[in-house]
Amino acid sequence: MAETLLNIEGLKTHFFTEAGIVKAVDGISFNLKKGESLGLVGESGSGKTVTALSVLRIVPKPGKITDGKIEFNDENLLKKTEKEMQKIRGSKIAIIFQDPSSSLNPVYTVGTQLRDVIMAHQTVSKTEARKKTIEILEVVGLPDAETRMREYPHQFSGGMKQRVAIARALACEPTLLFADEPTTNLDVTIQAQVLNLLNDLKKKLGMSLVMITHDMGIIAEMTTRIVVLYAGRVCEIAETHDLFERPRHPYTEALLAAVPRLDMRKTLRVIPGNIPNLIEPPSGCRFHPRCNYAKQTCKEDIPVLEEIESGHFVACHEWQNITLKGERSH
Ligand SMILES: Nc1ncnc2c1ncn2[C@@H]1O[C@H](COP(=O)(O)OP(=O)(O)O)[C@@H](O)[C@H]1O
Ligand code: SF4
Ligand SMILES: [Mg+2]
Repeated sequence: MAETLLNIEGLKTHFFTEAGIVKAVDGISFNLKKGESLGLVGESGSGKTVTALSVLRIVPKPGKITDGKIEFNDENLLKKTEKEMQKIRGSKIAIIFQDPSSSLNPVYTVGTQLRDVIMAHQTVSKTEARKKTIEILEVVGLPDAETRMREYPHQFSGGMKQRVAIARALACEPTLLFADEPTTNLDVTIQAQVLNLLNDLKKKLGMSLVMITHDMGIIAEMTTRIVVLYAGRVCEIAETHDLFERPRHPYTEALLAAVPRLDMRKTLRVIPGNIPNLIEPPSGCRFHPRCNYAKQTCKEDIPVLEEIESGHFVACHEWQNITLKGERSH
């Protein structure tokens, strides 16, 4: 079995706002193996981004990691100093966001930015760094890299800008890459190109990937294992094909039912009800107000994540009493 690269246990990240404490990530646990592609999926507001920001220790104020453990290569990142974290960010763990502009500096040319990142993390001369910059821009499929590296981020199209952002993230050869909805703002053809690129790079560089998305179609293509989040908690963890064929958590079933199929593109279904308020979340199972299978216990007791088959975890009181529909049954 592959070694564990990242191990998150009981992580809590809360936002201390004037309106109250937003329990955005509230006791989540999962791990990631070396070289694995893991999906982190859930509706908007379920805590996906905050989870990634927590691992990198860049949670914005008024957010704070209040509990848990984040082990990366067997070292607890929550015990590191800010200086140590700066070294890890970019060189070992990198992130790309939905909006590529957020990771690029508008006042420097693309080439300068990449070169600076490379030089900050590797002991290379300016000339070598420049050569590496061109190489990496070619790797991410930027045509005419040698000329285009002299341009500024705003001179690039959305798809090309995301390629540059990926190049920046990869410039230091990270062992772990978080891709947070990296294609949400791109049109469908460009989306496919960027996803293919990520897949290729992952294979080539042997890094681990955490693919964050609310799109079950993307997750099916890009991952081998999935963590389903709902309102700051883990509902289910399983291998991708298993989760799609035999979901065990009612929320996963609802997510699968909401996937627009090719023949039904026009009738995109959504999960009825709203994501709960995370200042005063529902008692017991946080999904109970929207769950078709809820019983009285669901309102009272928090379901714990249990391993029901090898590698398949679920947090639901009712999993033994219900038969859920997988991807093909809708
Ligand atoms: N800066 C912030 N202040 C207060 N609440 C926040 C902040 N950032 C995120 N949250 C809250 O944390 C929860 C999870 O957010 P997020 O991780 O961004 O969700 P996702 O990425 O799954 O869409 C949301 O309810 C959101 O409102
Ligand atoms: S614990 Fe109850 S409310 Fe929660 S998902 Fe399971 S059946 Fe539904
Ligand atoms: Mg997000």
